[in-house]
Amino acid sequence: MLKLPGLIDPHVHVREPGQTHKEDWDTVTQAALAGGVTMILTMPNTKPPIFDAETLDLALSKAKKKARCDYAQFVGAGPDNAEMAASLADKAAGLKMYLDSTFGQLRLDDMTLWQPHFEKYPKQYPIVAHSESRSMAAAILFAAIYDRPIHIAHISLREEVLLVKAAKEHGIKVTCEVCPHHLFLTSPLPQGEGPGGRGNGRMEVRPRLATKEDVEALWENLDVIDCFATDHAPHRLEEKDSENPPPGFPGLETILPLLLTAVSDSRLTIPGIIQKMYTNPRKIFSLPEQNETWVEVDEDAEYEIHASEMFSRCGWTPFEGWKVKGKVRKVVLRGKTAFEDGIILVESGYGKNVRE
Ligand code: NCD
Ligand code: ZN
Repeated sequence: MLKLPGLIDPHVHVREPGQTHKEDWDTVTQAALAGGVTMILTMPNTKPPIFDAETLDLALSKAKKKARCDYAQFVGAGPDNAEMAASLADKAAGLKMYLDSTFGQLRLDDMTLWQPHFEKYPKQYPIVAHSESRSMAAAILFAAIYDRPIHIAHISLREEVLLVKAAKEHGIKVTCEVCPHHLFLTSPLPQGEGPGGRGNGRMEVRPRLATKEDVEALWENLDVIDCFATDHAPHRLEEKDSENPPPGFPGLETILPLLLTAVSDSRLTIPGIIQKMYTNPRKIFSLPEQNETWVEVDEDAEYEIHASEMFSRCGWTPFEGWKVKGKVRKVVLRGKTAFEDGIILVESGYGKNVRE
């Protein structure tokens, strides 16, 4: 039996408030615990988006009642909330900036709108940027100009990991995360076209799945990557199979088995998982220790991934039928057994806001 610390996922979409038919604070935190994740940092692109004191309170009041694992909530950067967002920094996971194509309304195209956020958001917390390719380069330049930390969400391309590497070598305070789907899946279509199109909505995700060369570059440069994050972005199967499929994959219940399978294939190490899912996210996001918290894993258990056995409400996974090696047996969170052999054992409301 392998013992791991409680894992931290810095990139989770809860969908509450506003879209609880996809997921809510109860189901997402059950999915987290089943996946060996004891702390989630949650994204602000809900309905309404989380961008001021009132909407932050709204999300946190739902979480307080329903969450079963620990959490902190991001505030979103809007066109005119830089001062407000900065004033909420101590209560928030961090500031999320959407600088590229995404799901929801939080998107800042004009770079003059980025400036006040980079100026005002307290430097002890990172700004997290959804920024791809050249807008990632622009975001890193902003971090350099304002001499403050920036965390790049879900990098997926060779050019991105190489630029992050170069920026780090030049002392810029940049960190980054990668998602399992960008490590284990490639685009079914040639570069640039994206995997979308009718009938293939299940493969829609932002950033898009990339080429084999991109995926190989991520694996070759794992030392540049600070965190593994799921970007758990649940949408219902009916929505994914519709004419207008929303982008996003669920990921909380598959991240650890996929990574452990990579360990058994000698592509990754257990200390590497602990560094990227515990040590580094704690440091980057200034997260507290969860006392008496650990995950027990049966490293040799082989099984098939099936959405029908999952806690997420979305009802599907891009890894359906995959054979993996490594199963979460037990999760202890702050002294209490929270999950054991497929059963959730803590109540709604057991989860704590780690910024409180
Ligand atoms: C995310 C979602 O559905 O909220 N979708 C996605 O494809 N990753 C939005 C996002 O993170 O950009
Ligand atoms: Zn996301």
